[in-house]
Amino acid sequence: MTERIPAIVLGGTGYVAGELLRLIAGHPHLEAAAILSDSQPGAPVAAAFPHLRSAYPRLKFSGLEEIEALLRGAPRSALFSAAPHGAAAGLIDRLLGASESAGNRTHCVDISADFRYTSAAAYESVYKHAHGAPARIRQFTCAVPEHLASSPTPHVAHPGCFATATLLASVPLLALGLTDARLFVTGITGSTGSGRKPTEGTHHPQRHSDFYSYGALSHRHVPEIAACARLATDIDAEFNFVPHSGPFARGIHVTVQASLKKPIDSAQALEALAAYYADCRFVKVLDTAPRVKDVATSSYAHLSAVTNGSSIAVMAVLDNLNKGAAGGGMQWMNRLLGFDEGTGLLAPAPGWT
Ligand SMILES: NC(=O)c1ccc[n+]([C@@H]2O[C@H](COP(=O)([O-])OP(=O)(O)OC[C@H]3O[C@@H](n4cnc5c(N)ncnc54)[C@H](OP(=O)(O)O)[C@@H]3O)[C@@H](O)[C@H]2O)c1
Repeated sequence: MTERIPAIVLGGTGYVAGELLRLIAGHPHLEAAAILSDSQPGAPVAAAFPHLRSAYPRLKFSGLEEIEALLRGAPRSALFSAAPHGAAAGLIDRLLGASESAGNRTHCVDISADFRYTSAAAYESVYKHAHGAPARIRQFTCAVPEHLASSPTPHVAHPGCFATATLLASVPLLALGLTDARLFVTGITGSTGSGRKPTEGTHHPQRHSDFYSYGALSHRHVPEIAACARLATDIDAEFNFVPHSGPFARGIHVTVQASLKKPIDSAQALEALAAYYADCRFVKVLDTAPRVKDVATSSYAHLSAVTNGSSIAVMAVLDNLNKGAAGGGMQWMNRLLGFDEGTGLLAPAPGWT
């Protein structure tokens, strides 16, 4: 292929948008055609992302009308949304509409929560505002790429970072019938999980050298995790989730504990996990405790497990901005566009971030 497909990124100056631009810069078949900034259209992208200066020395943030015109003129495009939930759906609807009205084909991967639910009512009961594009919901499927071979819809909703880690650890337990459906999940996220804008609870002086839980047993992503688990296994599982803020910038560590239906030892548990993910090149099963630094900034997830006769603990680590957002989103976009799902994503982690 000689011509690159234009890629459009929504979410401008945000962390996930920056990570998408980094991945697009290394993708052989995509070209960053436009990045929407709500707050600073016309400003240089390299000013918001100095680490991307070599890849984008001249690219400037675009406004919405400019992107609509671009989509009307491009027969095939890739639209990534890393806008905040609540804003994403309306923007995506407008831009897909512009592409469709010109008879063009655009695939969208939304990394916000806006298309993770199968009905507007379900979304609205959690997010407490009207859905921005209810008629589009049926065009999106929400799943971890390792748990659904291909999307039945033209567009995909990425399940998010905590959800990806939790689901990678939990789904094999349910699908293989190893445990009951009552799962206890402890998750720890780095500070980039809260986005670029510091708030009282997420600002560096608050998080640095500290460790604390938040939203225990009431985190809003739990229904999304349960819905993805149901899609992958047909089982209605109970996720008892306690998230924590960790004193690092990138990465997530999740521990899932559950009661075994029948005793297996740790070696058997590892064997079962490895067999389950045998065809998944981004998931590695280790016989040692997985560490965040071994996957930080990469598209890989590492899992491990131990049992004690009656219970199992599965540990999972991944990078929240890459595998848990932009990289998982790119994996889906590769599939939607007919490329190998690993295109542009196979670089190993640097190890000492
Ligand atoms: N951070 C993570 O680890 C992570 C993981 C999985 C999923 N996500 C999801 O990915 C999305 C982006 O997260 P993030 O961490 O990158 O957030 P972020 O750093 O706060 O960035 C979001 C960006 O969206 C733009 N924006 C703000 N209000 C907007 C509006 N009304 N309309 C259009 N754009 C608007 C802003 O850039 P401009 O002003 O330049 O437009 C802002 O910088 C969120 O939906 C988040 O839930 C994040």
